[in-house]
Amino acid sequence: MAPKTIIAFDLYGTLLSTESIADELAKIYGQDQAKSLAALWRRYQLEYTWRINSMGEYKTFGEITRNALHHAVAEHGLTLAPENTDALMRSYDALHVFPEIPSALKLLEENGDSVEAYVFSNGTGEMVGNSIKTSPDLGPHSGRFKSLITVDDIKCFKPDRRSYNHLLEHVGKQEDKGDVWLVSANPFDIVGARAAGLKASFIDRSGKGWIDRLDEKRAPSVIASGVDEAIKLILNY
Ligand code: LAC
Repeated sequence: MAPKTIIAFDLYGTLLSTESIADELAKIYGQDQAKSLAALWRRYQLEYTWRINSMGEYKTFGEITRNALHHAVAEHGLTLAPENTDALMRSYDALHVFPEIPSALKLLEENGDSVEAYVFSNGTGEMVGNSIKTSPDLGPHSGRFKSLITVDDIKCFKPDRRSYNHLLEHVGKQEDKGDVWLVSANPFDIVGARAAGLKASFIDRSGKGWIDRLDEKRAPSVIASGVDEAIKLILNY
């Protein structure tokens, strides 16, 4: 039997929409502020992971996410009551999937004999497990993923090389890095995976193409408009 194609799916921003938290923010701050608060929260969440990596230190993605929320709220000149912080953090465990994810999961099911799928995320095991369990679209299909691989085991965030090496080790491909695909809508994740020797499919939901210019040699192996298309392109690669 031919070896299965190994595909690791990034979670936040790729399967789950971090923008969908805007509905919860709107309940507290109103529609006008909600969208920009959600975007700023996500921006600081990622920025904090990169900063703490550079410092050689670690806090869990849950702590990072909570602290980034406070930063985003303060920057908008707003305040956040403790009960609202807790409610928003609970909502972070219940983000919505992007519209094409159900059809992507169907493709994984149909191609179960040729694809070995994983979730690979910055989140802790608890956060990632909760997000998947709570999601009405992902929950019933969690069996499609062989396992949930998180950087919490090695205590550093993407795009540190060690995070991708952890993925390669988990799937038993340290010597055959190019056999492993990462699917991500986060450009920094794509560049990190390519630098570590993996193949990568960029999910270009905005339709702007590949515009990241950190390193032109580390462009995605394929570009897809959604996760379902990415799976098809990878299977035909
Ligand atoms: C993740 C980040 C990139 O899920 O959002 O790993």
